[in-house]
Amino acid sequence: MSIRTIKDLAPAEVRGKRALVRVDFNVPLDERGGVADDTRIRAALPTIRALQKAGARVVLCSHLGRPKGKPDPKYTLAPVAAALGALLGGGSAVRFVPHVTGAEAEAATRALKDGEVCLLENTRFEAGEEKNDEALAKAFARLGDLYVNDAFGAAHRAHASTEGVARRLRPAVAGLLMQRELEYLGGALEKPQRPFIAILGGSKISGKIDVIEALLPKVDGILIGGAMACTFYKAMGFETGTSLVEPDRVEMAKELMDRAAFRLTIPHDATVAPGIAEGKKAHTVKRDAIPAGEAMLDIGPDSALSYARAIASAKTIIWNGPMGVFETPPFDEGTLAVAKAMAAATKRGATTIIGGGDSAAAVEAAGLADEMSHVSTGGGASLEFLEGKPLPGVTALDTTSTKGDA
Ligand code: 3PG
Repeated sequence: MSIRTIKDLAPAEVRGKRALVRVDFNVPLDERGGVADDTRIRAALPTIRALQKAGARVVLCSHLGRPKGKPDPKYTLAPVAAALGALLGGGSAVRFVPHVTGAEAEAATRALKDGEVCLLENTRFEAGEEKNDEALAKAFARLGDLYVNDAFGAAHRAHASTEGVARRLRPAVAGLLMQRELEYLGGALEKPQRPFIAILGGSKISGKIDVIEALLPKVDGILIGGAMACTFYKAMGFETGTSLVEPDRVEMAKELMDRAAFRLTIPHDATVAPGIAEGKKAHTVKRDAIPAGEAMLDIGPDSALSYARAIASAKTIIWNGPMGVFETPPFDEGTLAVAKAMAAATKRGATTIIGGGDSAAAVEAAGLADEMSHVSTGGGASLEFLEGKPLPGVTALDTTSTKGDA
């Protein structure tokens, strides 16, 4: 039994129908209010185009930022509609609807012709969105004749536009991006080609503990990077200088190392400096020699080399979280080394998956995003998926056995 997708719909379920499509257009805006990174918009194009081709009237909705349940011009989706129109091309103007529910929004959806596209205003301008309010979910349901969820990045949120509406508007199916995300991430967890390794970085062990626990029984190895390594160093009894350490997680780190034994690799060396702004003073030390007044800001070159070797001999690799402060050279070297090794692994046939968020930004900045098997559009969502948690935006959809009869 699997999730029903737009590919499972009969032509009559789509042609001339209003498809309410939840996308994740939560994109960064630049200082002039334009779209600074259109990755998530481009990722939704295959679903939008497939629905247009099938003769649907496409009604898009999304959140943007965290406007706290009321309209805030800072978070309007108007610039996103313009960016989407330019990307769709071919005369596909995207009508921006400055409402998210109500008579005007409904009228706008009913004015669409087959193949036309509109984008509603920010779903989080409604107080009931994040509360998964029943009345709001019903109001959303009036805006479509079928529901498509393509917002993998928001699928871990049980909100009115991701979960509530799916229980009230049928068919409720996954879009092509959602399907691709679930296939890559789910495939790695369920039937990975081995060796299967995970690379986990970032600053805090507390944010990654559940994913480490969930992956340990499944993988052949976990390679740790980022400041999170310092909590492990503390557990090993090493000096960590001014590095970020979570004192209340040291015991947990110790217990995890005992249990995981050789499957958990903690970096053997570190690039340290007195501060992030003092890259010129960066130098490499063994992990038991971090100076008292300095902080670990990247994994060291020996660790980067050994991680690259591990990647080179793996067949499935999942990466979530940078190895250091990758936004600030020279503390980007460990992250770059991992990104390059992942790109080379893809070329020789391995499955390489980037788990969204900062690691996706890092491979994008390195110009290597296209050289990965899959770069997830969901940071929090991919982490929760890897933790084995059900995603409410997915579980609310039809399965191939329900065929939308509910
Ligand atoms: C994201 O950017 O991870 C998603 O769009 C979810 O956004 P949120 O964390 O504000 O719910």
